[in-house]
Amino acid sequence: MSESQGLPQCFLGQPFLRHKPERSPWLYCQLFMGMGETEGREAGGIVQKGEEMGKLMVSRFVIGMVGTNCYLVWDEETKEGVVIDPAENGQFILGKCQEAGMTLTAILLTHGHFDHIGAVEEIRRAIQVPVYVGTNEKKLLGDPEMNLSRAFGNSAEVTQVSLVKDQQILRLAGRNWKVISTPGHTKGSVCYYLEEEKILFSGDTLFFESYGRTDFPTGNPKELRKSVVEILFHLPDEVTVYPGHEAQTTIGHEKKYNPLASY
Ligand SMILES: [Fe+2]
Repeated sequence: MSESQGLPQCFLGQPFLRHKPERSPWLYCQLFMGMGETEGREAGGIVQKGEEMGKLMVSRFVIGMVGTNCYLVWDEETKEGVVIDPAENGQFILGKCQEAGMTLTAILLTHGHFDHIGAVEEIRRAIQVPVYVGTNEKKLLGDPEMNLSRAFGNSAEVTQVSLVKDQQILRLAGRNWKVISTPGHTKGSVCYYLEEEKILFSGDTLFFESYGRTDFPTGNPKELRKSVVEILFHLPDEVTVYPGHEAQTTIGHEKKYNPLASY
């Protein structure tokens, strides 16, 4: 029996839509706009108010052949910031950093799939910054078969990385970023949680009314369910979730409407 059996799977990490009749026109519009893109498109900036360090800015760009959400996050006062999951087209991402006047200080990876790492080396050739990734993701990240890049015709591997552990705190852009280990979509998947700002970057673990598929190398449906229900659903309801694909959501909304809530 395949490990992926037991949970319905969705296409390449795209959401399994639970409420198609109500949600589909907008969601499908987003999905098709994302498919096949290599340049990226702006998906709207979001401003979160910080207490002491000024505003924290979050911008989302949909990039690459499967419409990956790439996020730029920076402090409006100090201009220090990070990029999360640079999917593809490093020049586009670096241009957006420049437009924002942002000083890029780190690359954060939620996991090692090809559609989240495609621009890592291009960015790093331009700017020497650390690349953070979950400690159990190193093997997949450095293997074009496991990270699926070979199957999509662009063998990618990232080897020089800083490994982060569950509950580790990274100090970036003047904020504390807590690493939360969430295996299931891949063994080394992590989420990044800004507790004070109530923001979670969930990668392909948790989506709007959906969750990441588990039938790729190192995927595990039991672990995915555990990560979502026993870890992420224990965060406060008001936490805003920025996923690796599709629209943002909140923990409270997912506790009500995510299919895993009733599994
Ligand atoms: Fe993925």
